[in-house]
Amino acid sequence: VQETYIMVKPDGLQRGLVGEIISRFEKKGFKLTGLKLFQCPKQLAEEHYKDLKAKPFFPKLIEYITSGPVVCMAWEGVGVVASARKLIGVTNPLQAEPGTIRGDLAVQTGRNVVHGSDSPENGKREIALWFTEDEICQWTPAQAPWLRE
Ligand code: GTP
Ligand code: MG
Repeated sequence: VQETYIMVKPDGLQRGLVGEIISRFEKKGFKLTGLKLFQCPKQLAEEHYKDLKAKPFFPKLIEYITSGPVVCMAWEGVGVVASARKLIGVTNPLQAEPGTIRGDLAVQTGRNVVHGSDSPENGKREIALWFTEDEICQWTPAQAPWLRE
């Protein structure tokens, strides 16, 4: 079953949107397996976004992600990676559809409140990067038979 790394960025925490963001994934029916508030060191932010190292906005991106605590989450479910990206909306919040997190709650790419892994491989990679093994909890949601036939 798929897993994805979702993170409320520092602006999401500062703006009081943590509950709202967690709620979107929770209500959808995905399973939360990891959750923590965390001040990200520069090195980890650089490793997380290493594919963007050559971009002109990279230094600003690292400054943004390390500017305050983030909320790290691991979510599990069939098709969770692509579905979470849909729930989040496209990178630029002004272009993100209403009903998505970015479409409803943000106005600028450099303050787009939430991160979601872009592939199952990156979901695994990022969860291993941000969490230790003992921080991931396996459990069976009581609602499981009511979510899937
Ligand atoms: P993440 O879920 O955070 O990975 O966003 P994404 O997958 O929608 O976009 P991408 O991976 O291409 O970029 C990562 C993050 O870098 C974005 O979410 C933005 O916060 C930031 N970013 C991307 N493009 C720009 C840009 O042109 N300017 C600025 N200031 N930030 C950008
Ligand atoms: Mg990305």
